[in-house]
Parts: sequence; C-alpha cells; structure tokens
Amino acid sequence: MTTVESKPGRARLLIMACLFVVTICSFVSCNSRSSNNTSPKFQQYYVQGEQLYLQYCSNCHQKDGSGLGLLYPPLDTSDFMQRHLEDVVCLIRNGKQGSLVVNGREYNQAMPALGISDLEIAEIATYIYNTWSHQEGLLDVKFVSEVLTSCDSLAMK
Ligand code: HEC
Repeated sequence: MTTVESKPGRARLLIMACLFVVTICSFVSCNSRSSNNTSPKFQQYYVQGEQLYLQYCSNCHQKDGSGLGLLYPPLDTSDFMQRHLEDVVCLIRNGKQGSLVVNGREYNQAMPALGISDLEIAEIATYIYNTWSHQEGLLDVKFVSEVLTSCDSLAMK
C-alpha cells in the first residue's frame, strides 16, 4: 500500500540526502589526508630515509630508535621530537653540544654534524617522524630547506 508522498516525508528524504552527502565528503577528505602517507613520494622518502638512518644514525640511536642508556637519547618515543620538529631538522644538519632533556632525562653528549644534503635530511626526517610512535606525514625537502636557512635564528642550536 503506498500513500501519497507527504511534505514531511519529502523533508526527511532531503535530510537523509544531506547526511549522505556530508558522510561521503568526510570520507573523501579523510582518505585524501591519509593517502599522503601512501603517495609514491612519501614511500620514496621513507624507504630512502630508512637506509640513511641505518647508515648515519643507528650506531648511536639504535635500529629500533630506543637510544643507548644515558649516552644517546631515544627517538622511538621522544617528547623532544614532538615539541621541536624544526630544531630536530637543524640538529641533523649541525649536530648538537651541551645538555638536552628527552622524556624528563638529561643527556649531555655531543652529536656530530653529519654533512648530509637537504634532501637526505628530509628523507631521514620523514623516516624518523613516521616510524615507531610517530605519524607526522611527509616532510618535504622544500619545507626542510626553508627550516635549514633559519637554523641560526632558532632558539636551540
Ligand atoms: C655519535 C652518535 C650520534 C649519531 C651518529 C647521531 N646522533 Fe642524534 N644524538 C646524539 C646525542 C649524544 C644526542 C643528545 C645531544 C645532547 O645531549 O646535546 C642526540 C640527539 C638527537 C635528537 C634529539 C633528542 C631526541 O632523542 O629526540 C634527535 C632527534 C637525533 N639525535 C636524531 C639523530 C639522527 C636522525 C641522526 C642521523 C642523521 C643522528 N641523530 C645521529 C648522538 C648521535
């Protein structure tokens, strides 16, 4: 048995259609954000970054990013990394002397400057910021180069 479509019925249909559109839109925008992490460029940075990490960093910070006692701070979970992304980019370029606090522990050994290119830094940064507990997405070389030009003026050297 069908009834003649009433006005309230049509209104409900309209509301449902709107909800449907909103739902689809939010799905699409979510996907376009997470696809950032599956883009070929991200994959390339990440894979290269891992190789470079094993070559330049894992001696001290270890393969799994856990650091080494009180000598080398951890990267797998690091409040320092979370709070100072730009400083970390500069630190990879310039190394670091003096004390530094990670997860409430003080470290005071020197990290050497490694003499690597902007692109290599971007790849390593993309790797360390998207593995273990981190999920920052792609750190493009354009962004990294910009940060590197301002290293001198950043608070932490
Ligand atoms: C010779 C050992 C050594 C090497 C090689 C080294 N680091 Fe470090 N790193 C250190 C030390 C020591 C500190 C702490 C510096 C201080 O106390 O001032 C540090 C600090 C850091 C920090 C900030 C603190 C934290 O744990 O969040 C990051 C990030 C970091 N290093 C990343 C890297 C990356 C990436 C590489 C490779 C490109 C690298 N390091 C290579 C010894 C090293």
